[in-house]
Amino acid sequence: MKGIILAGGSGTRLRPLTRVTSKQLLPIYDEPMIYYPLRTLLTAGIKDILIIIAPDYAGDFLKLLGSGKEFGAKFTYEIQDKPEGLAQAFIIGANFIGDDNVTMILGDNLYEDDFSQAIRTFKSGGRIFIKKVPDPERFGVAEFDDQGKVISIEEKPKEPKSDYAVTGLYIYDNTVVKKAKSLKPSTRGELEITDLNNLYLKEGTLDVAFVEGEWFDTGTHESLFAASQFMRGKKLSKNPN
Ligand code: G1P
Repeated sequence: MKGIILAGGSGTRLRPLTRVTSKQLLPIYDEPMIYYPLRTLLTAGIKDILIIIAPDYAGDFLKLLGSGKEFGAKFTYEIQDKPEGLAQAFIIGANFIGDDNVTMILGDNLYEDDFSQAIRTFKSGGRIFIKKVPDPERFGVAEFDDQGKVISIEEKPKEPKSDYAVTGLYIYDNTVVKKAKSLKPSTRGELEITDLNNLYLKEGTLDVAFVEGEWFDTGTHESLFAASQFMRGKKLSKNPN
């Protein structure tokens, strides 16, 4: 299993914070944001990790994370020239992925859960993680049938069909590269991860699991603040001094 952290994008919603640095380098309590998704992969035993970054602050990511040695891992870097979608990561990362399966986590998604089990037991198809949220229109949203089975996913729908957001951790088998290459850009000009998930869904190979602990997509000032507060609480309760 290989790992990808996607830390592209320009973080426009977080200006002026992101005028001089990348969103994924902003602090979440006492650490840079990207440390959290990185730890999610490392904890699950993924040590061969591709970090995909936007060109603007590429040097800062290298300075912070280096070769990966310090983390007991091996990091590879690729540039995403333009924010052309999450699914583009599997095209940019095609050589890195090679013949392996891959877990991708978004550089601005922070989880409390330990996904070791979900990642170690993965065999084929796709596996995504959903969570009930108060503002589903910000996310990819799952639609369920009467039996509670997910039948489709819609990207940022104006009228969401449920309160369940598809969160930013995705496990895929090796067919993801071919599937990503078959996608057409959406109306917002991006290769959508939601379209990719719908391909697996149509094939009948998409496994949908629930996020049990806290989850943050830190794309807004509110969620950035909430995530910092939550991580502070967790760290202080573990280490009161
Ligand atoms: C992206 C995806 C969306 C997903 C979200 C999770 O949205 O397009 O499907 O629910 O990540 O964080 P973005 O945060 O890039 O707007």
